[in-house]
Amino acid sequence: MKELKESKDGKEKKIKKSSKTPLLLRGFLDVLPENDKYWRKFRDVTEKILDDYSYGKISVPILEQTNLFKRTIGEHTDIVSKEMFTFEDRGGDSVTMRPEITAGIARSYVTHGMLNRSRPVKLYSSGPVFRYDRPQAGRFRQFNQLSIEVFGDESPVADAEVIFISYLICKKLGLDVIIQINSLGNTESRQEYITILKEYFRSKRRLLCDDCKARLTKNTLRLLDCKEEQCRELAKAAPQLVDHLDEESKDHFVSVLEHLDESEVPYELNPHIVRGLDYYNRTAFEIVPATKEGEESERSPSQNAIGGGGRYDELIEIIGGRETPAIGMAFGIERVVQLLKEQQKNQPSKKNLDVFLAQLGEEATKHSFTLFETLRESGIKVRANFSKDGLKQQLEIADRLGAVFTVILGQKELLDGTIIIRDMENGIQEVVDSAKISDELKKRLKKGK
Ligand code: HAM
Repeated sequence: MKELKESKDGKEKKIKKSSKTPLLLRGFLDVLPENDKYWRKFRDVTEKILDDYSYGKISVPILEQTNLFKRTIGEHTDIVSKEMFTFEDRGGDSVTMRPEITAGIARSYVTHGMLNRSRPVKLYSSGPVFRYDRPQAGRFRQFNQLSIEVFGDESPVADAEVIFISYLICKKLGLDVIIQINSLGNTESRQEYITILKEYFRSKRRLLCDDCKARLTKNTLRLLDCKEEQCRELAKAAPQLVDHLDEESKDHFVSVLEHLDESEVPYELNPHIVRGLDYYNRTAFEIVPATKEGEESERSPSQNAIGGGGRYDELIEIIGGRETPAIGMAFGIERVVQLLKEQQKNQPSKKNLDVFLAQLGEEATKHSFTLFETLRESGIKVRANFSKDGLKQQLEIADRLGAVFTVILGQKELLDGTIIIRDMENGIQEVVDSAKISDELKKRLKKGK
């Protein structure tokens, strides 16, 4: 017997299974039917908003040349140096399961000569991404992202629009979030700042965790968002990038913030937002659940961020395209879904099914297929369980599903040409003409609303 970790309702559960049962890979998730409604809600809300704001949907492959990610995300980042699912294909080429979608979209932008389209080119894409990270709450090895990208617009308005749309999506989903924002400046000002930061941390080297000791030479900025307590304390007192920005980046940043103020997007300046990918310059931001007053988030932004992004003006050139300013962001969909679920738990349950159709006896069951279709076709949200014929059992199911009414069809009603409507709130039953059932139900449903 072996133990299998299975995920249901977001919780990990240990189940004894025979050694013949193939295991779900660590850090991988099955999305079960009862959770699909959250995924669907996210998809419906995002597609509507992105469509309204003229973003075109693009699909790019999950597998790309390894070099694409090395060159864009950066060789020394955790993602590229430790977390990629990289292997040789049968032809001997090194390929990688994408750890994010932006690089693939940028590659596609160059491959298809989108540089020649009228600017800006606004795109979005969603699907699975892979990072061999240490799995824990909200951190998986396969997860899904929705990536939103704008190519060919260097103005701060573009930064503000992407942040505004991301916030709008959260608001429409009913999520209470805040944007944590920083500016990473241009390459030169960032390089100067990195030298200053190195000096600061070098004198404290022995206090750093092992990962940060290694970051000190190769990935210094990431010292600012380390999750280890002692490193976080040191980072709090470190010199801040905003004090070392070049003039253009400073103006750009101020302008982005002014636009956010104007559109009432809630944000907080956070000098420790540095992002885990090398391609960013200027604006960098993360979206985190808002904490209640006096409450401090237990995790650092990068651990509980439901989304993040920023400006990446050099990426297209890095992969051989013409100079193209760009800005984008990605949501981590599993984390959004988790928040949606938590939010629903805190809300009073409400009726979410119009009608449950209960049938008693063989003849009624046969007839209930057509009746079900009549109700469904007339726009009533109806459910049934045709393989059950005990009334008590069916009423229990109706109750569990939160039905407003149960429609009961038995042998007697079938002969009489009638149907019973039972109000699930008070148990009152009425007999109505079966030919008028849809209208009768609609009338009552409207009245109840
Ligand atoms: P990222 O911050 O690495 O950015 O990922 C975006 C989001 O994916 C995070 O905010 C988080 O919600 C989610 N995420 C990251 N790692 C995990 C994980 N191991 N398990 C579950 N969820 C995770 C990017 O990937 C950039 N491509 C975003 C971007 C688009 N920048 C410009 N355009």
